[in-house]
Amino acid sequence: PLVSTGELVSAAAADGRGVAAFNVITLEHAEAIAAGAESAGAPAILQISENAVRFHGGRLSAIAAATAATARTSTARLALHLDHVVSPDLLRAADGEGFSSVMFDASKLSYEKNVEATADAVRWGRERGIWVEAELGRVGGKEGESPLDAHAPGVRTDPAEAAAYVAATGVDALAVAVGSSHAMTERTATLDHPLITRLRTAVPVPLVLHGSSGVPDDEIRAAVAAGMVKINVGTALNTAFTAAVRGYLTANPHTVDPRKYLGPGREAMAGTVEAFLTLMRAAE
Ligand code: G3H
Ligand code: ZN
Repeated sequence: PLVSTGELVSAAAADGRGVAAFNVITLEHAEAIAAGAESAGAPAILQISENAVRFHGGRLSAIAAATAATARTSTARLALHLDHVVSPDLLRAADGEGFSSVMFDASKLSYEKNVEATADAVRWGRERGIWVEAELGRVGGKEGESPLDAHAPGVRTDPAEAAAYVAATGVDALAVAVGSSHAMTERTATLDHPLITRLRTAVPVPLVLHGSSGVPDDEIRAAVAAGMVKINVGTALNTAFTAAVRGYLTANPHTVDPRKYLGPGREAMAGTVEAFLTLMRAAE
């Protein structure tokens, strides 16, 4: 069934568990996330990023409707989240499309402008019962950024600033920079665990780890134990999908029916989803 992000995150926070949020690009991603959640017997969040909406020609409704329908017809508890929203127009378009939450990403703005824009987004969300996540301290590696910036050491969220930011904006959850980076294809990131503990103490709302594809299992487990709640995974699904598709097409160079290779790609993503969700459960 389609449930709300707020209830999944609150329940996980109360139990000291993590809840994984997976990025949806194609319908096969949504189907794989549902299948992986069903096999793991765990809830999950399906998130569609502004970049993914742009890939679909800006047609939010089409990909949102397909993803929401996949969640509704699944036996797993699944929520729908709009991820890394920079455009205020896209934020407004999320209303009525099945999203129970959005991540409003003003992290490129100055602190003051970030607070102002995010507080507006939170007001918008409150009027509609939509849960709002925001980011403070940049998690690098987003599309259009140089990978060198992404891995720049010292990009971290300051606990005192984070506490002030949450108080000033009223956000429901906070994405923090603690050493992970977006779009990593190998799991080699090391997290700043003492910082996670300090953030957990300073910040009254659930913390969100972005760029979790690059974080090894034991680092994720430790991060959840220290109080990280929403664990965002995107690239790991694409790595699994593409390897399976490439393998199939290399072995079967004359195939033209996309179902022949999308099937193994989808199955590989479902396996990755199940592994991450099992990790969330292991932290119980
Ligand atoms: O918001 C999405 C996540 O932060 C995904 O990051 O693709 O590096 O796993 P990732
Ligand atoms: Zn992210």
